[in-house]
Amino acid sequence: MTDKTAKLDLESGTSEYPVLPGSVGPDVIDIRKLYGTTGKFTYDPGFTSTASCQSAITYIDGGEGVLLHRGYPIDQLAEKARFLEVAYLLLHGDLPNQSELDEFVNSITYHTMVHEQLAQFFRGFRRDAHPMSVMCGVVGALSAFYHDSTDITDPRQRLIASHRLIAKMPTIAAMAYKYSVGQPFVYPRNDLSYTGNFLHMTFSVPAENYEVNPVIENAMRRIFILHADHEQNASTSTVRLAGSSGANPFACIAAGIACLWGPAHGGANEAALNMLREIGDSKNVKKYVDRAKDKNDPFRLMGFGHRVYKNYDPRAKVMQTTAEEVLKELNISDPVLDVARELEHIALNDDYFIEKKLYPNVDFYSGIILNAIGFPTEMFTALFALARTTGWVAQWNEMISDPEQKIGRPRQLYVGATHRDFVPVSER
Ligand code: ACO
Repeated sequence: MTDKTAKLDLESGTSEYPVLPGSVGPDVIDIRKLYGTTGKFTYDPGFTSTASCQSAITYIDGGEGVLLHRGYPIDQLAEKARFLEVAYLLLHGDLPNQSELDEFVNSITYHTMVHEQLAQFFRGFRRDAHPMSVMCGVVGALSAFYHDSTDITDPRQRLIASHRLIAKMPTIAAMAYKYSVGQPFVYPRNDLSYTGNFLHMTFSVPAENYEVNPVIENAMRRIFILHADHEQNASTSTVRLAGSSGANPFACIAAGIACLWGPAHGGANEAALNMLREIGDSKNVKKYVDRAKDKNDPFRLMGFGHRVYKNYDPRAKVMQTTAEEVLKELNISDPVLDVARELEHIALNDDYFIEKKLYPNVDFYSGIILNAIGFPTEMFTALFALARTTGWVAQWNEMISDPEQKIGRPRQLYVGATHRDFVPVSER
């Protein structure tokens, strides 16, 4: 607590509100009693200045380009940690010791299979369904298959549901891919790593032996870690809001997947690669940069800009290195990488982007890597959902355990018609 307060002067009088400090980052003004004392609401569409919760999971300093998970810098985690170590860290607050890690890895590994009947569910979709529509449906349907982990008041059931979600998302994402290309579903393999197993379920076919390439496995590990959590972004806030009503975790994560799908959020990596392909050649870059700056043209540079980062997204740096490594390993010379480099160079030296503090975000290079590995663009956001599930379940657990948690219920500034009497249709 703190003795600091913030005063609000209104015609009706002055009211005072506590100022709460975080461990780092800006203080927040606690306005929970504002309506009770003044009869007024605050107005903040898009939550640009509003903290919706307390959280001890992820810290971002967008001005400095800092991203910490439970205090650990993202570049250290991306370099040194296993994906499941990061998942444990997000969920439990500290890095696991060896026996905690072994137990966690074991639990995730032994929950990777999905109920066999779930395969029927996939077959109900058209082959050309977008994998995100399949993910929304199938993940939401998990609550119909795993009744024994939907009592959110029981911490044990919450933990089992969390493990199930982290474990089954790669299986479901791989099944969505297999279904779309008309190949048989591939069962998980317990001797492989989390990412290795995902690559196996996605790319192996019964007719051939599939060897996981360690460079690709490492790239996927980094991509998953870089996408694991990002504090109160749109999809995480959606998961929290859905969960605040007491909805079961599978339904909440399905809500998060739906929100992530949008091109301003998780859909941006698909949009970024499509944009780079459309630009096609480094010599066209300037034309597209000019279009992005033109107020009368709706075109934006996809993979550029961020609500929170007003500096280089620290995840984008790791992505750039990973893109170079993967293309080298696979011996691919993709002109799209040259276009990306040129676009980044021109934009970073252009006054419009400098003044607005628009830098490449995590999505700028990720599409190039995923494309090189062999994922179709429609799968990109599904992979993001897979990785972000760990963050979603960690944030959902934190919210449910918070004694101050209430059902999320924003207020509004009503600007519609005032009272008027109904007129029968014959008289209108
Ligand atoms: N290209 C050109 N101009 C841009 C871009 C861009 N990519 N992003 C923002 N701007 C401009 C806006 O036109 C606006 O200009 P104005 O002040 O003259 O009106 C200004 O910069 C601020 O932009 P806002 O849209 O108000 O910023 P906001 O914080 O609401 O949006 C967002 C952030 C949605 C990420 C935006 O930068 C964008 O649309 N980027 C492209 C999509 C993208 O890459 N999304 C991925 C985000 S990261 C993630 O989800 C993992």
